[in-house]
Amino acid sequence: MSILIRNGLIVSEGRSYLADVYVDGGIIKEIAPHIDREADELIDARGMYVMAGFIDTHTHFDLDLGVTVTADNFETGSAAAVVGGTTTVLDFATQDRGMTMQDALDVWHKKAQGASCNYGFHMAVSEWNEEREKEVKSMMAQGVTSFKMYMVYDSMKVDDGKIYSALKLTSELGCLIGVHCENYDVLQARIAELKAEGKTAPKYHAVSRPNAVEAEGVARLMRIGELAKAPVWVVHLSTLEGLEEARRARARGQEVYLETCPQYLVLNDSEYEKDDAEKFIMSPPLRHDCDKKAILDGLMGDIDFIGTDHCSFTMEQKALGNGDFSKVPNGGAGVQNRAELVHTYCVKSGDISIERMAELLSENAAKIFGMYPQKGCIRVGSDADIVIFDPNDEHVISYKTNLHNCDNSPYEGIRVVGRCKHVLVNGVHAVRDGLLTERGRGKYVFRKAGIRTRK
Ligand code: URP
Ligand code: ZN
Ligand code: ZN
Repeated sequence: MSILIRNGLIVSEGRSYLADVYVDGGIIKEIAPHIDREADELIDARGMYVMAGFIDTHTHFDLDLGVTVTADNFETGSAAAVVGGTTTVLDFATQDRGMTMQDALDVWHKKAQGASCNYGFHMAVSEWNEEREKEVKSMMAQGVTSFKMYMVYDSMKVDDGKIYSALKLTSELGCLIGVHCENYDVLQARIAELKAEGKTAPKYHAVSRPNAVEAEGVARLMRIGELAKAPVWVVHLSTLEGLEEARRARARGQEVYLETCPQYLVLNDSEYEKDDAEKFIMSPPLRHDCDKKAILDGLMGDIDFIGTDHCSFTMEQKALGNGDFSKVPNGGAGVQNRAELVHTYCVKSGDISIERMAELLSENAAKIFGMYPQKGCIRVGSDADIVIFDPNDEHVISYKTNLHNCDNSPYEGIRVVGRCKHVLVNGVHAVRDGLLTERGRGKYVFRKAGIRTRK
C-alpha cells in the first residue's frame, strides 16, 4: 500500500519545510519538494502540518484498581488515541504484589492484542527485591526499558530505599525509572484530618494534596537520584514548586526528565466547585493558575514531554467514593485530546512554536524511550506513523463525540483549534477527515535503551 502526501508543511526535528512524503510498506520512502510517483492513494495536505505520529508516554488502559477497572481497555483507548493523532502509547504494565514482571508483561501483551495504535510498555513495579532485580535484563530483552514506581497508593507504594536500589541497578543498564512523587505519610495524615472535620466533598481531594505534597516528593526523588547516581523521570509534574526542585537538581548537574499532562496546562482547581467534580479527582490534583503558568513556561525548555495520564472512569465508577473523596477512583480521560489542547493552549496562545509541539508530543519521547529514529520524526526509513494536522479546524470537545468508553471528559465543552485530519499508523490510513476508518493496525514497539538527551 503506497500513499503520497502532497503539499504539506513538514514539522519535524526542529524545522518546518514544504515537501511531499511518499510512504510504502509502512515506511517513509521519500521526502522531496515535489514527488512525481504513482501511489495507491493521494492525500492533499495543503495548509496542514505533516508531523511524526504522536507518542503518549503515560496511559493506563485496562488497569484493575481492585475496586474497579478503568473504563477504557486497549480497544477503546487506542481507538481514541489514534483519532487524536497518537500513533503510539506507552502504557503501564502493572506488576501487582505477588506477581512477577514477566506475569505482568504477559498479561499486558494479551490486553493490547488488536490495538488500533502502536504500543509499548513501561513496567510499573509494586515491590522491589532480588527476584524483581533478576528480571530487569529479561524485560530489556523483551523491549521494556523503562519502569515506574509510586511513592503513594497502598497497593503500589514502594519505600525510598527500594527506589534508590532500583534506580542504581536500572540506570547501570541504561533504563529509566519514572516516579509518582507525593509524600504518602503526610497525605494520609491530611486525609485523616479532613475526614475528622467532615470534609469529604471532592474539593478536599485537592486540599489533601497541596503543592508541597508533590514538591517534597520531587525534592526527595532528586536527592535519591543523586545518591544513586541515576537519571530520574518525574511523571505528571503539576506544580511550580516541583518544577523548581527539578531545576535545582539539574543545576547540581543531575540528569532529570520531566513529563507533564494537558490537564495541568488547561484546567485549574476551580473545577472542584462543579457538580460533577468527581471527574476531576486525579493525582496530582488540578492546581492554581500560577502553577499552570509555571508549567506552560516550562514547556519552552524544562519539560521534556507531555503524556496524558489517561485513566478513565465512568461517573458511576466515580460514585464508588460514596461521598468520600479519598475513595473515588483516581484519574481522568484525555488520550484523544492532547494534541488539539496543546495546539490551542500552548501554540495558538503564542507560548511555544509548532516545532516545539512536535518535540513535546513525539520526538523527545521517541528519543528518551528508545524508539528513535524509527518513530518521532519524519525521515526516510522511519515508520510511517504520520499525523496531518489542520491548524484551523475548530470544534468543541465532548465525551459524546470522543471515542473513549466513558461518559465524561475533563475537557467537556472546551473549544479547541486544530484537529488531526488524517492519521497513518504503520503506513495505513487509519483516520480520514477526522474519522477512524481502520482499527486494529497497532503493533508492539520493542524499545531499546533510550538516548539520554540530558546527560
Ligand atoms: O489519578 C491518576 N493519575 N491516576 C492514575 C495513576 C497515576 O497516579 O498515574
Ligand atoms: Zn501517578
Ligand atoms: Zn498515571
